[in-house]
Amino acid sequence: MSTLALRRRLTLDVVTDPAAAGRAVAGRIGELVAARPDAVIGVATGSSAEPVYTALAALVRRDGLDLRAVRWFALDEYLGLPAGHREGYRQVLTRQLVEPLGLDPAALHVPDPSGDPAVAALAYERAIEEAGGVDLQLLGIGANGHLAFNEPGTPFEQRTHVTELTASTRAANDRFFVGGERTPTHALTQGLGTIAAARELELVAFGVAKAEALYRAIEGPVDPSCPASLIQRHPCAKVTADDAAVALLVV
Ligand code: GLP
Repeated sequence: MSTLALRRRLTLDVVTDPAAAGRAVAGRIGELVAARPDAVIGVATGSSAEPVYTALAALVRRDGLDLRAVRWFALDEYLGLPAGHREGYRQVLTRQLVEPLGLDPAALHVPDPSGDPAVAALAYERAIEEAGGVDLQLLGIGANGHLAFNEPGTPFEQRTHVTELTASTRAANDRFFVGGERTPTHALTQGLGTIAAARELELVAFGVAKAEALYRAIEGPVDPSCPASLIQRHPCAKVTADDAAVALLVV
């Protein structure tokens, strides 16, 4: 693994494969929890985050990492899925995180899609604030540079809100839906202002499909046309990516 300080506050770890990235990021989460057992950790849904959860589960099993006091906050949740749908992000994170790590389901907070979404958005912001803010936010990146479900054009200062997904994001996420079902059209998402308020950002990206987005996030202008470019302004952002995802970066 090679570590490069791209800017004063943004570092890039280039790793051989997603499993290595998972171990690196899970190791940093482990250090955080050792220092602060009741840390607030922001979690992402999507295939990029999975290796981190797998590696965290190994730290729990092998090293006895104690996550019992940690509070977990998801980035986003679909609107319009039937309650308990297996692709709802609460269900996905229950399968990937809560069950393998033996967490208390009540420790996982997810925006509530069941009632008035505007009320749920405000309640989610309040819950994050009452928890003391997010210590470490895990992030994937969309092929169009989105973070959570903040699509290109979303203002940087926005907080948790309802958003309409772009055709490309819906098409990308259709792979998780079966039987002719499609990705929902809308979601509740932490805003870019919410994400940027986390004390540390950990972005993971793998594969050539992410190369252009990662290039724009790291080397492009800091601009809402690439929501992930906010990492350049964050006081503590780390990117962990494989060779394919960094292919367009001059490193
Ligand atoms: C979804 C999620 C994002 C995630 C993105 C990329 O749109 N809302 O948080 O970063 O997918 O997913 P993947 O890691 O599967 O490529």
